[in-house]
Amino acid sequence: MNSSSQSGVFYPPHAKPLKGDEGFLKGTWIFLRNPIEGFGPMAYNQPIVSVPAFGKKLHVISDPKGMMDVLGTQSGKFTKAPIDARILGPATKEGLLSVHGEQWKRQRKSVAPMFAKRHMRDLAPLITEVMQDFCARIDKAPDIELNAAMAELTFDVLAKALLGDPQGLDKDNLKFATRNVVTGAGTLRPDDLLPWPRWVPRPISPKGMRALRKLKNAADALIAARGLEPESDDLVSLLISAQDPHTGRRLTAREQRDNLIGFFIAGHETTALTLTWALYLCGMHQPTAQRIREEVLQVCGQGDVQYDDIDKLIFTRAVLDETMRLYPPAPMLNRECQEDTEILGRQIKAGDTFLLCNYIMHRTERLWETPLAFDPDRFIRQPELRAKGAPFMPFGAGPRICVGMAFAIMEAVMALGTLIRDYDIEVPEDCYPRPLMTVTLRPEGGVPARLVRRV
Ligand code: HEM
Repeated sequence: MNSSSQSGVFYPPHAKPLKGDEGFLKGTWIFLRNPIEGFGPMAYNQPIVSVPAFGKKLHVISDPKGMMDVLGTQSGKFTKAPIDARILGPATKEGLLSVHGEQWKRQRKSVAPMFAKRHMRDLAPLITEVMQDFCARIDKAPDIELNAAMAELTFDVLAKALLGDPQGLDKDNLKFATRNVVTGAGTLRPDDLLPWPRWVPRPISPKGMRALRKLKNAADALIAARGLEPESDDLVSLLISAQDPHTGRRLTAREQRDNLIGFFIAGHETTALTLTWALYLCGMHQPTAQRIREEVLQVCGQGDVQYDDIDKLIFTRAVLDETMRLYPPAPMLNRECQEDTEILGRQIKAGDTFLLCNYIMHRTERLWETPLAFDPDRFIRQPELRAKGAPFMPFGAGPRICVGMAFAIMEAVMALGTLIRDYDIEVPEDCYPRPLMTVTLRPEGGVPARLVRRV
């Protein structure tokens, strides 16, 4: 167990908050390099902190009521902030992740049924198939870097769920282009934090441009080919036939393509990071790994983890929730206010921006007991922590809550349960990676690990 354990309690890596006496320039510099380290005691101790920013105000919220107001009850007064369009726009401008207003409403109604429970049950066996291939690979090469290996796994799962096994699909090429877009063009840079007008294009490296072009061409080709075989039942076919339930209107070709790309971008890195941090925590805290193992053996024996087992794997799910509490893959959401209003008793002007900091909300002593300790049982002792309005929102909240949440949870429970049951996970004892925010929250430098098959 790592040296930061005290009396059996494991305190995993935490982004160092500002002390509060750094001064403006140093504080800004720290924020630009790793935004989640750019907040001081005020942001942890107060529900809302407002600072002047380029002639407007920037409000930092780390409070469930404030989050629910912005994302839920008053969501009609807010859009995503320009920074989102700047980073995601080049890849998914016309997709659910980026659009607003009526276009968003129409798309969400069309796309949400793709992720309904009845489809999840059909997708579970595909996850099992991908897991079997993945395990065969690590049996041959057990030394892995967790983040890269989990990104590979979750990409393969999504490719199978979204696309099935289309003839002639160059999956490696598609994976390479998606990874390049996520880790290159889709990574936060200090210049993104400046108030560029929406019409100013974001410079992207020639390599990033090539990856984007490849990804768009591949998505166009896949959709065109699938249009010729309407009988398939994978998610792309559902996307192509998706209709607004009231008007019957279908998505345009551009919307279909940007959504397909959006699912790959939003769906594989986030789930990969959840699994990376969860495996890291299990590697550092073996009693947790042992409890998962016993639970999976009791529920599934040596067989595959099935769809109907997911709700029975209570501790495995609690470990995943505790992982996303400590390391929310999307650690900060943003919004721009479109009309004057009041949030948490504060006057808000149109044009003000919000940082909705679930990383801070998940770790503040105002809302949690021993917030820095790794304690999955808190989700078993207090199941209400998962209820609407609780201070735990790794998937966001309100009408724009993650549309792929059920899929992500199913995949993560199946993957973590299978891997921990079947493998001993060894992580170097001194591995204590700093959480680094690059839009998502990654372990800086990665996590080297060895997965050794148990039987
Ligand atoms: C552990 C895994 C995941 C996490 C933590 C996560 C987190 C989030 C969060 C926080 C949002 C809200 C963003 C905002 O309000 O600004 C979101 C939205 C979204 N997510 Fe996920 N996500 C995950 C997996 C997935 C998967 C597997 C898919 C699809 C296959 C997906 C697709 C989307 C899409 C399309 C949206 C936009 C929804 C809308 O605006 O209506 N996500 N996700």
